[in-house]
Amino acid sequence: MEYVTFNNGVQMPVLGYGTYQTPPAITAVNVKKALDAGFRSIDTAQAYGNEAGVGQAIKDAGIARDQLFITSKANTDGYEETKQGIDASLRRFGGDYFDLMILHWPMPQSHESYRALEDAHQAGKIRAIGVSNFNAKQLDSLMADSTVKPVIDQIETHLYWQQQRMHAYLTQHDIIHESWAPLAETKGRELMNLPEIQALAAKYGVSGAQILIRFLTQQQIVTIPMSLNATHIASNFDTFGFKLTDDEMADLRQFDQHHGINGWPATMHEDRY
Ligand SMILES: NC(=O)c1ccc[n+]([C@@H]2O[C@H](COP(=O)([O-])OP(=O)(O)OC[C@H]3O[C@@H](n4cnc5c(N)ncnc54)[C@H](OP(=O)(O)O)[C@@H]3O)[C@@H](O)[C@H]2O)c1
Repeated sequence: MEYVTFNNGVQMPVLGYGTYQTPPAITAVNVKKALDAGFRSIDTAQAYGNEAGVGQAIKDAGIARDQLFITSKANTDGYEETKQGIDASLRRFGGDYFDLMILHWPMPQSHESYRALEDAHQAGKIRAIGVSNFNAKQLDSLMADSTVKPVIDQIETHLYWQQQRMHAYLTQHDIIHESWAPLAETKGRELMNLPEIQALAAKYGVSGAQILIRFLTQQQIVTIPMSLNATHIASNFDTFGFKLTDDEMADLRQFDQHHGINGWPATMHEDRY
């Protein structure tokens, strides 16, 4: 495993397992598959309704909590709601801390919500705090109005929407760039089957998905592919045995189409910041 180091010194595996659209009833089984395959970082959220399943999978796998990196996301708005939401998340998860908690997306009272994350961080309930789906302007505004610097911004990022401008901004501010939809969800098959991706897959003896994942982790972009298929889960984890050359990385950067799969959220469009 390779790791990124946050601006507060906490380390996070550069590769983790996503649980969006994983129904609560099958979360424990699928997260257990990911843990068995070697994943130690799991991404859940209040909005996914599956924090309890993640906690159950950890118990079932019998892995010590300090060997894991667990992220959840708050989708509450305002200080009190967020404060209570964090405690409710921990209760559902069945633990006394998260490694990372992020605001799921900007809301009218995001600065107040972030203050609740800061206080929970201070109280030892969250080792690191950050945001998701925040553009550069929104981050500037949040940082001007808070004391704990966000460690991460989780934003849609894959071959077709590389977020090169946000990446430069985040790097400049010592905030880690995390990708959601690294395999571009429903567009994944199209990306994996591009002739250029297939040529690299043949060269390195891997799959198209593995090339797409490595393209991101090689840029120190935290990457959390989701899969319910045990074969896919295992191969998504097995992506550190090869390294794309600088020329190959530069070629892949040319595939950027500068917009997301379905345009959500509109505030991430490059003309909005
Ligand atoms: N912050 C946010 O707003 C936000 C938004 C969306 C997602 N996320 C997070 O990011 C994670 C990843 O994004 P995502 O789940 O939306 O999409 P994704 O990881 O880009 O794509 C998931 C799809 O890829 C397929 N897949 C996975 N591995 C594959 C492989 N090796 N070969 C072929 N197909 C493969 C999966 O199908 P199979 O099950 O058949 O493998 C699934 O349909 C989420 O689970 C969630 O944790 C965050």
